[in-house]
Amino acid sequence: MTTRPDKRDAASVGEQTWSVHGGNHAGSAGEGAAVREPITMANSYHLPADPSTMDWSNPEHLTYTRNTGVNQIALQDKLTALEHGEDCVVLATGVAALHAVFFSHVGVGDHVVVADATYEATYKLWTSLLPRKYGIEATFVDITDLDAVRAAVRPTTKLIVTEVIANPTTKVADIAALADIAHAGGALLMVDSTFTPPPLFRPLDHGADLVVHSLTKYINGHGDAMGGAVIGTASAVEPVRSEAMVDVGGVISPFNAWLIMRGSVTLPLRLRQHQASALELARFLEADERIAYVAYPGLESHPQHDAAVRQFGGTGAVDAGFGGIMSFALRGGPDLQNRFVAALRVITSAVSVGHDESLIVHVGTTGPRVAAYPDGFREYGHLRFSVGLEDVADLRADLAAALDAVSD
Ligand SMILES: Cc1ncc(COP(=O)(O)O)c(C=O)c1O
Repeated sequence: MTTRPDKRDAASVGEQTWSVHGGNHAGSAGEGAAVREPITMANSYHLPADPSTMDWSNPEHLTYTRNTGVNQIALQDKLTALEHGEDCVVLATGVAALHAVFFSHVGVGDHVVVADATYEATYKLWTSLLPRKYGIEATFVDITDLDAVRAAVRPTTKLIVTEVIANPTTKVADIAALADIAHAGGALLMVDSTFTPPPLFRPLDHGADLVVHSLTKYINGHGDAMGGAVIGTASAVEPVRSEAMVDVGGVISPFNAWLIMRGSVTLPLRLRQHQASALELARFLEADERIAYVAYPGLESHPQHDAAVRQFGGTGAVDAGFGGIMSFALRGGPDLQNRFVAALRVITSAVSVGHDESLIVHVGTTGPRVAAYPDGFREYGHLRFSVGLEDVADLRADLAAALDAVSD
């Protein structure tokens, strides 16, 4: 029987090796045992001979799937090592993971500092739900203005909340600088790294305390399962597990954990292709005068391009890159953007990002969040484009043909 890489080897093997083998505990039964971790579709596990003194909520014990499960443990072990964390909790969705952090780390009378451009659910949680229900105060700031962030921190601030590359503006946050500000103020830094999965970037290596992923996106990568993860130091993850997962629920299903485990096997390989194609297409679009703007951190024109190069390693190294998501718009009104999307044949009009297939969504110029967006977004709206794994020549041809189809 082969002894495969396990948690102890994570630091010494390469990214792709760990993505293949990490968390796969199957095979220890020896000859005839399954090589891959099977799906354990069970709500309950056999109890010890004397369960009378057991702590039923202890996630170390396999008792009940809302506390922990075989496929959940496998995925958590893999993600802990991929993000260089100490511990991980996986949940039903990315939003469940975000809420789990907020719920377990912030309470009545506390304050948080939140990036002004984020995924919509983060915005809604902090503008409406959590302040209304728990009396928590949130201050929204331009997360690239470090003086403004510093000035927003109060003695009651418990968390600074940001994305590495913001959805949908692609604004890039300086994670090490934000970690310093958070820690100087006695707060934690929580980073939603959904647009920048490992090996592209690891917020914990730059001082963040908690990393959140929508596993629905790049980490699963195949557009067929939802999930979320919280990874971080052991002390920061512990309340997320005990309070938000075990006592509030929102646990991931064994089947989805298994699907995400399978999808994540190819994460580094996929990411390399996503970002190589994205950079090529961003340059292609930017060079076309019918395009009003392209927001992509890999372009020299991006306002935080230097911060992106510094954090993500530039364009030369093997795993360097700027992710696979950009926003852009054609010079024209909403009707033109809609006709352009309708003329695409390879790229699909649908929400979500990080799937194997290219996805595009047209978002207009109205809504409460738009005020915090850059000028181009406010004037033309934006097309959020998640570059997939199709041949880049086909994607380029699709964009070019759709542009021609809507041009006079
Ligand atoms: C940056 C970011 N965080 C969190 C989420 C929420 O993830 P989920 O849809 O898995 O709940 C999304 C979804 O688009 C996202 O883009």
